[in-house]
This record gives sequence, C-alpha cells and structure tokens, in this order.
Amino acid sequence: MEVVAADRTADDEYHLHELEIARTPGDPRRVMPPVPPGVRSVLDVGCGAGQTLIATDLGPDVLAVGVDVDQHALALGRRLTDDVLLAGAQGEALPFRDGAFDMVLCRVALPYMHVPTALAEMARVLRPGGELWLTLHPASMTLRELAERVRARDARAALYRAYVLANGVALHLAGRQFPFPGGHHRQESFQTEGGMTRLLRSAGFGSIERRASPFFVMTAVKGEGLGPRA
Ligand SMILES: C[S@@+](CC[C@H](N)C(=O)[O-])C[C@H]1O[C@@H](n2cnc3c(N)ncnc32)[C@H](O)[C@@H]1O
Repeated sequence: MEVVAADRTADDEYHLHELEIARTPGDPRRVMPPVPPGVRSVLDVGCGAGQTLIATDLGPDVLAVGVDVDQHALALGRRLTDDVLLAGAQGEALPFRDGAFDMVLCRVALPYMHVPTALAEMARVLRPGGELWLTLHPASMTLRELAERVRARDARAALYRAYVLANGVALHLAGRQFPFPGGHHRQESFQTEGGMTRLLRSAGFGSIERRASPFFVMTAVKGEGLGPRA
C-alpha cells in the first residue's frame, strides 16, 4: 500500500528509505539477515515499520513478527504489509513465551536498548539452537559523530555523544550501561566485538561470530558451544 508523501514524518521517511535500500540487492548500504532454510518463525526486535522483514519476504509458511517502542512506526508498517505481525513492546521485556522463535534479528536497534537485558530476552524467546543476527554500532561511528558535533559547536549534541561514548566504554569494560541523565530512560551505547562476545556468552549464546561485512554484524546460536561453526 502506498503511503502518501504529504503525510510522512521524518521517521517515516527513514523507515521507507531503509525499506527501499533493503529491497535493492546491489545497494552498498544494504545489510540483511540470511534466513536459513527450515526457519518457521522470525522475530525482529526494534523493527521500526518492519522494513527488514517486509523486504526479506519470508513467504506464507513463516511467522514474521516485529516489535518496536515506536507506535507511529508500527502504524506505518501496518499500512505497508499484512504479512508481518507488528506489536508494541520493549526489547528488554518481550511479550512472548520461552522458545517461541526459530530466529531473532535486531538491526541497528540494540544500541538504543539496555544491551544485557535485551540479549537475555532474545535468548529466552529463541528455541535452543535458534539463531540471533545483530547489527551494531562500532566505536568509530560514535567518535566520528562526536567530532562532527564538536566541529559544529553543538554543545548539547556533543554532550550526548560523549555520554554514548562513555556508555560504550562501560559496556565493553564492565558489561554495564546507564541511561542518559535526565533523558527519561533514553539510552544509547556503541558496541565492541569483545564486549558483545562476553555479553552474548553470559546470556546463554554460543557459536558467537563477527561476520565478514562492511557493517558490524554479529551472529550467535542459543545454547551452543563457543567453537567456530561448521
Ligand atoms: C535505527 S532504527 C532501526 C529500525 C530497523 N530495525 C531498521 O533496521 O531500519 C532503531 C529502532 O529501534 C527502536 N527502539 C529503540 N529502543 C527500543 C527498545 N528499548 N525496544 C524496542 N525498540 C526500540 C526505535 O523505535 C527504532 O525504530
């Protein structure tokens, strides 16, 4: 269904733009989860308008579910597709039973969550042997954003990026993170491969890998040993 241009917010534009990229195989900005054959249920945590699942086009035999805290994005998604079930929920408190999904994905949304809590929830709703696919924010991105805000003399935005930087360091070193002071529980961090490996292991994942990709992509399998995958 078409979404009329005049009605679109900036967030709508973001989600629709990401959908367009996801639907364009040769686009260098495209990063999509490979869904293994045999997967019958997929959950996208922090799905926005469901763009990743919509573009993945899993077919009628696969249950595709997306959750997000942004009701406006979910409403946009419901206008775009009937094939993905979209629900309002926090990544840190998923409203699903244990082991409900064969695969969980989270594309550039974990950096805005409490990472240890969200990973524990993702492990809980995955069946044993189920696969997790994540895209993350590297430290270089936060450092670049901080430098840009400083150069622009935007003190408020620079302060926020400095908080994201400090939070990422705390997550890497201690597996802990903190909400932005006075930010109504808003939080954000960057991630590292080492820090994520430790957090994924504590959440009950194995076969943890950083994927060869221009983007920061990590995968893991619920309840498997830490050796490389076959
Ligand atoms: C950068 S967008 C990514 C959207 C989509 N996954 C994509 O790949 O284009 C981040 C999304 O995470 C959502 N989000 C932020 N914090 C969240 C939380 N605690 N639980 C669930 N979703 C969250 C935002 O509302 C937003 O839709």
